[in-house]
Formats: sequence, C-alpha cells, structure tokens
Amino acid sequence: MSRNMIAKRVSFVSTDEAATLRERRRLLRDAARRLFVRVQRSGELCLEGGPALGYVPVMYGKKSTGPLVFRANDVTALNVAWQFFLNGLNYSFLSHKLHPFFGVYFTLSPTEHFQLLRDWLKTWKPSSPSRDGRVLDLGTGSGVISFLVQQLCPEAEILASDRCPNAVFSVTAELQRAMIPRIRVKRSDLFEELTEEAPFDLIIFNPPWVPEPPERSAATTAGTEADVVFGNDYPPELFPRLFAEVSEVLQPDGHLLVLFSNYAQCRGLAERSPMEDGLRTLKLNQVQRRPVEETDRNKHRQTRRDKSWSFKEKHQVELWDFMKKNDRAIGSALVLEICAKFGADMFGDRDFWCQNAAK
Ligand SMILES: C[S@@+](CC[C@H](N)C(=O)[O-])C[C@H]1O[C@@H](n2cnc3c(N)ncnc32)[C@H](O)[C@@H]1O
Repeated sequence: MSRNMIAKRVSFVSTDEAATLRERRRLLRDAARRLFVRVQRSGELCLEGGPALGYVPVMYGKKSTGPLVFRANDVTALNVAWQFFLNGLNYSFLSHKLHPFFGVYFTLSPTEHFQLLRDWLKTWKPSSPSRDGRVLDLGTGSGVISFLVQQLCPEAEILASDRCPNAVFSVTAELQRAMIPRIRVKRSDLFEELTEEAPFDLIIFNPPWVPEPPERSAATTAGTEADVVFGNDYPPELFPRLFAEVSEVLQPDGHLLVLFSNYAQCRGLAERSPMEDGLRTLKLNQVQRRPVEETDRNKHRQTRRDKSWSFKEKHQVELWDFMKKNDRAIGSALVLEICAKFGADMFGDRDFWCQNAAK
C-alpha cells in the first residue's frame, strides 16, 4: 500500500474506531500503572531492550547498593524527560538551548505568546531612568522567560521564581551551565517569599491556562510536592490571589504582564477568562492577541485529523498588560461593583459617587 493510500485511510478513522483507539490507550496507561520494573542504581533497566534511565544515578548516586523499583509509566516519564534534558530545548529566539530537569514545565508549541512578549519587551523602558529595571519572572519553569528578558534587556536585574522546587533546581543549574550571573532564583508561592525583593518594575507570569478539574480542587494538593505533577492546571484561588497581592510588590508605574490564552474557553473547560477579574484591582493598559498557527503537531496523532474541529473558536494567545490603579480608580470600581450588585438606586447619583469616590 502506498504512503498516500495509508494517509488517506488513516485520515478517515470513524468515530467508533477513534473511541476504540482511545479505550486501548486508556487500558495501556492503566496497565503501565500496575507494572513494576527493577532499575539498577547505574540506571540500567533489569529488562532487556529498555533504555537506561539517566536521572537515576543523578538522583540516587551510583555507589549505593541494590536495584530500585519503578512503575512502568514512571520509567517512561523519566526516560522522556531525560531525552529532553540531554538533547535540550531549542527555542529559535534564545541564543542557547535549555535543559529542563525532570518535573519542570515547558512547551515547544505554541510559542506565539513568547513572540507577543518579545515584541512588548523591545519597547519597554523602566519608568525611572535611574534604575536598570527590576524584573520578576513568576512561575519560571525552565527559565525561558528569564533568558528572553536577559537577552533583550541585558541591564535588567532579573529574579526567576517558582513554587515548584524542581524548577528552582533546574534554572539554578541552567545558570551555572550557561554562566549567567545576573539572574537570581528563589522558590516562592506567588509573592509569599518575595516581599524583600520588591518592588518590581515588571512582573511577567505565564500561568497555567486550564482550570483544575473540580475533583482535584476538592482533594487539594496545593503547596505540596504533588504540584510537580499537577502544577499545570490553575486552582480556583490562583488569579484572585495574584490580582489582590500584586499591587503590593509593583512600582507605582510598574507593569504586570500575564501571558494567557483562550484555550480553556475554546475547549469548553472554562466559561469565562479569569483575566477579567484583574480589572477590579488593576488598570488594564492593553491586551494583545495572536492566533496560534495550526502545525502538524496540533493534529491528533492517530487520526491526523485537525484537532481544531473540536474547538468552539480559534485558539489565540494573549498578552494582558496591567498596571496599578490609583486610589480614585479603585474607589470608582468599587462603586460600580456595588451598584451592579445592589442596584444603582442605593447610591442615588452613581456618576457623582464615582467621580468623588477617592476624594
Ligand atoms: C505554564 S508554566 C510556565 C513556565 C515558564 N514560565 C514558561 O513560560 O514556559 C506555569 C509555571 O507556574 C508555576 N506556578 C504555578 N502556580 C504558581 C504559584 N502559585 N506560585 C509560583 N509559581 C507557580 C508552575 O510551577 C509552572 O512552572
């Protein structure tokens, strides 16, 4: 059968066949959770033909005796992560490859949100000419944003921070490998450990884009080591906390940039964007949007059908540029919110109250 014919057959997988394939994958995943594999401390699998696990001697040391036991799906995860660590991530806009440690979030696609950020940074100047600009890369992951800022704003003082300990370990090692002294790294849950470093001229956050499923919120893992595994969905309190606390650590003319996307809304996983909540406490300077290019990687692996058929609208990435509100604006926002909740009558002349809210 020619390649073309195979491609044609594959692209017409019926809904029933697709469901069978999904079920087969689910069963395989389930089986992999129940299968255990012995691994030598040197990283060799006690299973013929299996890959050596490079992370094992790094994590456990070669000298200690006796094999370890891993679940089969952990072996797969460790092997995939090790390949990325060894070969490195090649971002076209960075001058060197990144080598993320196991359990650290990164993505090679989409990258359009990084392009939005790059364009924004090219025109950014800290408001005070006497300062070089203090930048916080919140939720640094592999450190990609810190390295981008460092390239475009070489004078900036950059702090990379994440609540995930693996990310802190990973970026620290990356800085030593690349011999970059100007970036510092600190573990923190949002701004909890960062008050001494504040105020910042610029805070950049590329947060998780998808809300945590309700069953996980109920069995909360927040602040525990389980974040390493589940850290890429946002818990309900993440954005309310961010928007309530950020003004405390921003310079008066500082910016908070949030890289977000309509992904969760497109997939029916969220009704509204949590970014809207930022308007209560912050001033919205601008929102920039950019459509995500459909690449072959975005298509379903088995059926090669364009996954966007299931999207409600076109997937776009977003750059939300917030600034601090002055007290008067906060007062007006509060009046508007109370009017919306209890009816405008309560205030009589609503405009009068808005205009005078901060006097
Ligand atoms: C989508 S990843 C982005 C990683 C990286 N900045 C990038 O652009 O590839 C979100 C990151 O935010 C971190 N994170 C999530 N909640 C956080 C919190 N409350 N405080 C600090 N970091 C958080 C996660 O551990 C993860 O590394």
